[in-house]
Amino acid sequence: MSTRIIAIAIVAANGVLGDGERQPFEFAEDWARYKKVTSGHPMIMGRRTLDAIGRWLPGRTTIVVTSKPDDVELPTDGKATGFAVSSVEAAVDLARSLDDDEVYVAGGGSIYAQAWPFLTDLDLTEVHAEAEGSVHFPEMAAAEWVEVRREPHQEFDFVGYQRVE
Ligand SMILES: NC(=O)c1ccc[n+]([C@@H]2O[C@H](COP(=O)([O-])OP(=O)(O)OC[C@H]3O[C@@H](n4cnc5c(N)ncnc54)[C@H](OP(=O)(O)O)[C@@H]3O)[C@@H](O)[C@H]2O)c1
Repeated sequence: MSTRIIAIAIVAANGVLGDGERQPFEFAEDWARYKKVTSGHPMIMGRRTLDAIGRWLPGRTTIVVTSKPDDVELPTDGKATGFAVSSVEAAVDLARSLDDDEVYVAGGGSIYAQAWPFLTDLDLTEVHAEAEGSVHFPEMAAAEWVEVRREPHQEFDFVGYQRVE
């Protein structure tokens, strides 16, 4: 079976992901689910998103994409594993070599856009409110994705999409 490559994101009703440094929404329930879903799997993220999170997330392997991989300080505490690579393609290849089940693409905007052709699934937290910010989730063509799961909550829905074969 081929590896599922899943974009995971929390997205405002107008598609906004963040302002370039921070993301507009944080919900404890969403963060807890994010941890549960991604734990044990490799995550691919851009250098700006790693900076925004501010630490290497424990229990996962993070592959950071940057034009200067030699400048990245990799984790040394034994709780998290990290790699730095210089392209999204290299990140996807490395992630696939580490996990033949599930790989997560964790943003930000530039990484979702470049990873788009590789994605098999979207795991979105769709917030019911709009937000301000310059970083957007890519446009989803209706013919390209089918909704396979929706779990409504008061302020957001957890929604799963799969790429139409
Ligand atoms: N709502 C969400 O779920 C969510 C998730 C993640 C992030 N975010 C938000 O998204 C924003 C960050 O997104 P962003 O698009 O500005 O940045 P990003 O995608 O996180 O990172 C951009 C950086 O990645 C590196 N990069 C990207 N493409 C590359 C390539 N082809 N080759 C080499 N390096 C490459 C570059 O790093 P260097 O500059 O080091 O070369 C670039 O500056 C923040 O506001 C963050 O909070 C939101």
